[in-house]
Amino acid sequence: MKLAEITAHLIHTFPHESDLMKAIEEISRKFTTERAKIGDYLKDERLVSAYTAFYLATNVPKLASIMKWMPHEWKESVKGKPLIDLGAGPGTFSLAWRELFGPGEFIQVENSEAMKKQARKLWDGNFPAQEMKHTGLVTDGVILFGHSANEMDVETVIQYIERYSPTDILFIEPGTPEFFAKMLDIRSELIRSGWHVLYPCPKESECPMRKTSDWCHQFIHVSHDPEVERLSQIMRLDRKLLPLTVQLFSRTEYQKPAERLVRVIPETKFSFEWEVCHNNKLEDYQVMKRGMEKATEKRVGNLLSGTPLETELDKDVSGKKRVKLKNF
Ligand SMILES: C[S@@+](CC[C@H](N)C(=O)[O-])C[C@H]1O[C@@H](n2cnc3c(N)ncnc32)[C@H](O)[C@@H]1O
Repeated sequence: MKLAEITAHLIHTFPHESDLMKAIEEISRKFTTERAKIGDYLKDERLVSAYTAFYLATNVPKLASIMKWMPHEWKESVKGKPLIDLGAGPGTFSLAWRELFGPGEFIQVENSEAMKKQARKLWDGNFPAQEMKHTGLVTDGVILFGHSANEMDVETVIQYIERYSPTDILFIEPGTPEFFAKMLDIRSELIRSGWHVLYPCPKESECPMRKTSDWCHQFIHVSHDPEVERLSQIMRLDRKLLPLTVQLFSRTEYQKPAERLVRVIPETKFSFEWEVCHNNKLEDYQVMKRGMEKATEKRVGNLLSGTPLETELDKDVSGKKRVKLKNF
């Protein structure tokens, strides 16, 4: 999304670019070093507009990148289903969902009046012919928590899921150890109530990272409108390579890969070195560069945590699995 398309629909007008940058810096601090005061920005139309100008622009492209990892059949199944954008803020993921999946029913659940005002202005400005509601119930919807479950306790997340009784639930949340700890508790609750994990876990059994100091998170490359890129650079907020926690649950079971790349270890001259979650067991994989075409080597080198894999075992080499990539 272009910055100008967003700024035209803000509820606060920034007299100069420097005022917008100052407000973005204030919010960025609240998301990182001042988390105790995280709720403050939600009452302030100036900060809500700054959130919208910057984070909406960088969060909207996330959905398309994430969808590349999701099972094809699942993507087909959700086309046309109602979207319940939970903790919608300015409607970030409703806008992204509408762009990717087309028209449908949209409910934006949000507590903050300033965010709702902002969301309404942005939605009506972009999709005047498409209804969007802030209240109401739908049947067979998809719930999407976008950077919002991290601001709720586990009980609240579960209560929302019970209230809307969706067919699918997608979490796109910060890629932090703190959120992962919460995500593990939500995951356990959902599996106990019969939900299937479609992403990222190969199985529903216990997460192998629960017993480690590591946390399961993913990375995506995001490219932005040049104006957003310019602002990010001036403010030294790198939004090109983004860590996140993505988890997808469904009432329906779909075929999914048995192996998921969970950590990229620095490559050697001869090999790519990865930690892989293989049927919910963490294993060290090695992919040799020898014999690879240059273009393939480059593509393999660009793979990020979160990518589904299909491999063939070559041999076990001192505790590591030397594998060949299939269908790559
Ligand atoms: C960081 S913003 C994310 C907004 C948007 N989903 C996005 O990704 O850009 C988090 C939003 O969650 C909302 N929120 C937090 N707790 C909530 C709750 N219990 N019910 C509804 N909304 C909530 C906040 O008001 C805020 O607008």
